[in-house]
Amino acid sequence: MAIMNEYSDMIEKALSEFLVKDKDIGGLVKSIEYSLMAGGKRVRPKLVLEFCRACGGEPENALDFACAVEMIHTYSLIHDDLPCMDNDDMRRGKPSNHCAFGEDTALLAGDALLTLAFETVLSENAVRATSPDSVARAGRLLANFAGVQGMVGGQFIDLSIEGKKVESDILEKMYGKKTGALLKASCMLGCIAANADVEKIRAAEIFGGKIGLVFQIIDDVLDVVSTTDILGKPVLSDEQNEKTTFMSLYGEEKCREIAAVLTDEALTALDVFGTDKSVGLRDFAVELLNRKK
Ligand code: IPE
Ligand code: IPE
Ligand code: MG
Ligand code: MG
Ligand code: MG
Repeated sequence: MAIMNEYSDMIEKALSEFLVKDKDIGGLVKSIEYSLMAGGKRVRPKLVLEFCRACGGEPENALDFACAVEMIHTYSLIHDDLPCMDNDDMRRGKPSNHCAFGEDTALLAGDALLTLAFETVLSENAVRATSPDSVARAGRLLANFAGVQGMVGGQFIDLSIEGKKVESDILEKMYGKKTGALLKASCMLGCIAANADVEKIRAAEIFGGKIGLVFQIIDDVLDVVSTTDILGKPVLSDEQNEKTTFMSLYGEEKCREIAAVLTDEALTALDVFGTDKSVGLRDFAVELLNRKK
């Protein structure tokens, strides 16, 4: 989709501008740049920008919020790959951060990205582009969805059930946190940047929750049926870590059926934005359902 490609350039350029030049911490900045600029799909920042547009705002005005979410996401990937977590040696088509820079620097690169995300969402620039009130709401929301009640909590549950057979309701709850929370936050931050009303913010939360589940279910499927070349990360990681996943419970066909139903529900949630304004989001949701990587 043309608009999403346009966003790609905006996002890459904006992210690259956050990388400070300071030779005392050159090794740390290199490690941050290595993961941040390694060409992820940028799903989350694209959602921020497109939700802003769907609410009648200028996508540029949501750019700091978009970069902040991608920083948190990248930190979560660096930490997720560490030996104490999923112990994966490849990410975004290259050796994982800790393989290239060591565990100590990888840990700090993650810490640095997490704090940089809040510096970014709360920046003077973000205040000028939106409003002091929007920035305060965005900062609060991002902290809540990325933290103990959101992504970090989900990662904890993920690790705590390794090696155990669990029911789908537990998995669904865990996916809602580890993956769904940041996708929800992305959608809602775009609305907040455009100063949208509560009805739209609530709809964005529902949409984000549904596509969040879809995103993790498809991630589980690809972990089994895709290749390292295509994904840029190891396949069969879940089996190796004895994780129960939707794929291990249901198999590919049923997973794709569940994901299609959830995508339909997500599309229904977009009705409040109107057909014209939500066409980009609708296309994107379907693209995410059918993604190959
Ligand atoms: C991978 O996220 C981790 C999950 C939440 C499943 P992405 O598939 O968005 O990874 P990148 O950003 O494209 O590398
Ligand atoms: C990760 O889930 C979700 C995060 C918050 C990073 P996975 O562990 O399945 O992600 P991948 O497959 O390593 O990208
Ligand atoms: Mg993991
Ligand atoms: Mg992992
Ligand atoms: Mg995975």
